[in-house]
Amino acid sequence: MKFLASPNDCGELSAAMNCQICLHLAGRILTLIVLFSAAPQTLREAANSTGMLVSAAVRPDLFSEPAYAETLAREFNMVEPEDVLKWWVVRRQPGSFDFRQGDEVVAFAHAHGMKVRGHCLVWDHDHPQWLAQSHLTPAQLSDLLQEHITTVMKHYAGQVFAWDVVNEALDEKGQVKDSIWYNRPGIGLAEKETGYVEQAFRWARAADPQALLFYNEGGGEVLNRKSDAIYAMVKDFKHRGVPIDGVGLQMHISQLDFDEAAVTNNIARLTALGLQVHITELDVALPTNSTGQAQNDDLQKQADIYRRVVRACRQNPGCTAIQTWGFTDKYSWIVSHSHGTQGGALLLDRAYKPKPAYNVMLQELSAPRNR
Ligand code: XIL
Repeated sequence: MKFLASPNDCGELSAAMNCQICLHLAGRILTLIVLFSAAPQTLREAANSTGMLVSAAVRPDLFSEPAYAETLAREFNMVEPEDVLKWWVVRRQPGSFDFRQGDEVVAFAHAHGMKVRGHCLVWDHDHPQWLAQSHLTPAQLSDLLQEHITTVMKHYAGQVFAWDVVNEALDEKGQVKDSIWYNRPGIGLAEKETGYVEQAFRWARAADPQALLFYNEGGGEVLNRKSDAIYAMVKDFKHRGVPIDGVGLQMHISQLDFDEAAVTNNIARLTALGLQVHITELDVALPTNSTGQAQNDDLQKQADIYRRVVRACRQNPGCTAIQTWGFTDKYSWIVSHSHGTQGGALLLDRAYKPKPAYNVMLQELSAPRNR
């Protein structure tokens, strides 16, 4: 054992201690640098770091599958029920509401600190038979729709922050589509073009004044007659004070080409009206062989399209959410929708393994905005 005997010994000791403190501090600083500069490991981390919402459409009957639930909670900071807030689920029986499956989605989101987006209150698809085959008068349909919007939105007030109030009201030519709510027989505004859409938004605002109200549409992502009609409608709404907060661009892509500039310009003109844009149903369907496999080349092209969609959105601060329509190829609507000719449309394969599209999305979401 060494005893301190001279001033010199003291000097050595303090130098050694200083050195130790220095090393300790240097170690700490290094750890902090590594922690703060570590690249995000998940889509959720990446989106959080740049203030975006990254989301997927979900089916609550799959929450019991561990890989499904774990992946969902790890990768996304928002969810949207793919089907369980549609009329055929919520209004299975006339005269009653069934919120059980919607409530499961909300509970999952709550448990994992995620936001919930609601889809959808007014659509001409996925109706229960009793409604599709009903012979209700316009006055009865008007009451039914108002009651539906009001009851569903009040049930989820404070839990669902944004709603697709009206889904797919326009056709490819930009005309208002024939539908039970518009003119077959409609809610009494059949001569008024987008009048029934306007009425739905007014009811929605009254039902939950805090919720963000979106018009959601497919096929109007680039510049075409449909997107021109969406733009004209929402511009008119904004000018006349009809309550609307955003436009959802579905983005179901089924051809391996993508006009990024057109989407960028479309997002720019919508946000210039003071509206938010959400990408709501992104998937990129690929041709598949008889065993459901896509080609490697196509997986790369798909990744490139995902990259350009994310860029188009992130370039514009008014584009605040990117949502894919599901997240694993194991459960994607594309296979049945395309009668088995397409598939592989999502970010993860059927074994939940990241595809090139996932890696690209992670990179793009991690990059600073407005590069
Ligand atoms: C689809 C679902 O993915 C399917 O499970 C369901 O059978 C039909 O609807 N546009 C929309 C979505 O707004 O609600 C649709 O979802 C896909 C097209």
